[in-house]
Amino acid sequence: MCGIIAYKGKENATSIVINGLKYLEYRGYDSWGIVYLNNQKARLLKKVGKIGEFQGQNNLSNSCVAIGQTRWATHGKVSVVNAHPHFSCDKNIFVVHNGIVENYEVLKAELIKKGHHFVSQTDTEVIPHLIEEYRKNNSFVVACEKTFHRLKGLFAVVVLDKKTGEIIGTRKGSPLVMGIGDKGFFLASDVPAFLNKTNKVIFLDDGDMVHIIDDETYKIKNLSSKKILKKKIDTIKWSKEEAEKGKYPHFMIKEIKEIPEAIKKATWQDNKKLQIVVNLIKKSPRLFFVACGTAGHACLAGQYLFSSVGKPTGFSVASEFKNFFPTLDKKTLLIAVSQSGETIDTIEAVKKAKEKGLKVVSLVNVMGSTLTRISDYVLMLNAGPEKCVLATKSYLSQLSLILLILFSTLGQYKKGDKELKKISYQIDQLLENKSFIAKIKTLARKLSSVRHIYVIGRSYNYPTTLETALKIKEGCYIHTEAFAGGELKHGVIALIEKGTPCIIHLSKGDEADNTLINAMELKSRGAYIIGVGHKRQKDFDFFIEVPEVEEIFSLLVNIVPIHLLSYYIALEKGIDPDKPRNLAKSVTVK
Ligand code: AGP
Repeated sequence: MCGIIAYKGKENATSIVINGLKYLEYRGYDSWGIVYLNNQKARLLKKVGKIGEFQGQNNLSNSCVAIGQTRWATHGKVSVVNAHPHFSCDKNIFVVHNGIVENYEVLKAELIKKGHHFVSQTDTEVIPHLIEEYRKNNSFVVACEKTFHRLKGLFAVVVLDKKTGEIIGTRKGSPLVMGIGDKGFFLASDVPAFLNKTNKVIFLDDGDMVHIIDDETYKIKNLSSKKILKKKIDTIKWSKEEAEKGKYPHFMIKEIKEIPEAIKKATWQDNKKLQIVVNLIKKSPRLFFVACGTAGHACLAGQYLFSSVGKPTGFSVASEFKNFFPTLDKKTLLIAVSQSGETIDTIEAVKKAKEKGLKVVSLVNVMGSTLTRISDYVLMLNAGPEKCVLATKSYLSQLSLILLILFSTLGQYKKGDKELKKISYQIDQLLENKSFIAKIKTLARKLSSVRHIYVIGRSYNYPTTLETALKIKEGCYIHTEAFAGGELKHGVIALIEKGTPCIIHLSKGDEADNTLINAMELKSRGAYIIGVGHKRQKDFDFFIEVPEVEEIFSLLVNIVPIHLLSYYIALEKGIDPDKPRNLAKSVTVK
């Protein structure tokens, strides 16, 4: 999704914005741009492609105010002219934007009638022209206010006025945070964009408008009440090192290595808040989990876990939530899960549930994100910044927190906490085990040229099979399909040919034997069977041994080798594991 960054202050705004754009790369993009003021001139630079490839940074002159954006094309093709910033006819107003202006065609037609000339195919370009139009009889601030009131859709916008050098920003549904620096102010889609400069942030709410007047002065007002707001300045606990790759070649391998810590930190919960959630769960006749992608697989595991203790529990991916909504009454407790806290489908599901009076508990990793501000109760995942598009450590923290809540609900908090810390240690041993890593690399070489992979698992391993397939699809571009073991003979076994690679997730528990039978059925039809489990099985072609744990904890241990496998297959195929094609870290538009 697009990423926006702006700076006004005594430091060099040009390099701050260029570096900020590099920090925002993980959001996914196809072009980028910056405008900065130097000697009252606006210097505009727009490029298609990766900002990482841009070498001309040192030729850019210094400035004290600049705005920039990484673009994920929605309206208009990937091109320099469609890249942001966009500008007014008089080139006094420059705009960067994340989101969609749904009524842009109406506004564009109106502005063309008034003589405005458009150069791009984007929805965004109506914003600088509309501000220019209102600016004819109003101040910069009022022109922006009037414009923002006319925009329909979900967006975050930052505007630079060349005449005054002032910046104005606002948000409605898309993320925008303000950074309070020692020598100036930042606006960005995400904290990591300026975390190397300050960890003092103001989380803006929908309808807030921030006006950065000079290096020391800013004003925040609410667009509807027009009231000036005194907003709380929060301190982000994440260090800038955490947000950087450090000694690792990629964020993915760094974040996989951080899994043991992430499991431990997921248990670092405020006991009072945890107890409130536990009491809500006990009191609620029904639970309903909702999320997208990897977080959705953690929710499915949550449905399995709470159903196993007799709690009526539903789950739906957020984009399909509306189909189950009629079955939910306000006594149902909605549990939403999200790493970013900005996934639009999950946010909309929560808003819908709240309209009906349901209580909402959210498990979120990013502090101050939209989901944390619209939910009734929030438990933080504490996994630290996750920059790789492929969710790895955040998935383990989501599962660990759901397990801790389950054990707490059963009055076994201490046991749950102890088990999770033990597994964190066991996984740490695994990740430090050189022969284990070498083995995964061998398998990665074998699988890097295949076109199809099938994944089978039963019971708690079914969510793990789905997550396995997702990781290999999004990280390695290999068609990978997951099946519940019991579905094999109902059709999918027809796909198996000689050498077809099949990953089988094994664990203790009632289904262990049935899963082994499935494996042999596949083998007898020529499949190349790869086992993941605690006990090596002799008839398997390849076996990945993981620590021996209780069945429910196989949710945690069985997925870690798959994270490593996806990483090493991606390297074998020359794919950038951190920024797979066509994907963004958080999906903020529909
Ligand atoms: C996972 O690797 C993907 N990046 C994606 O499926 C992700 O899990 C999904 O978009 C949900 O994101 P969230 O947890 O930030 O809401």
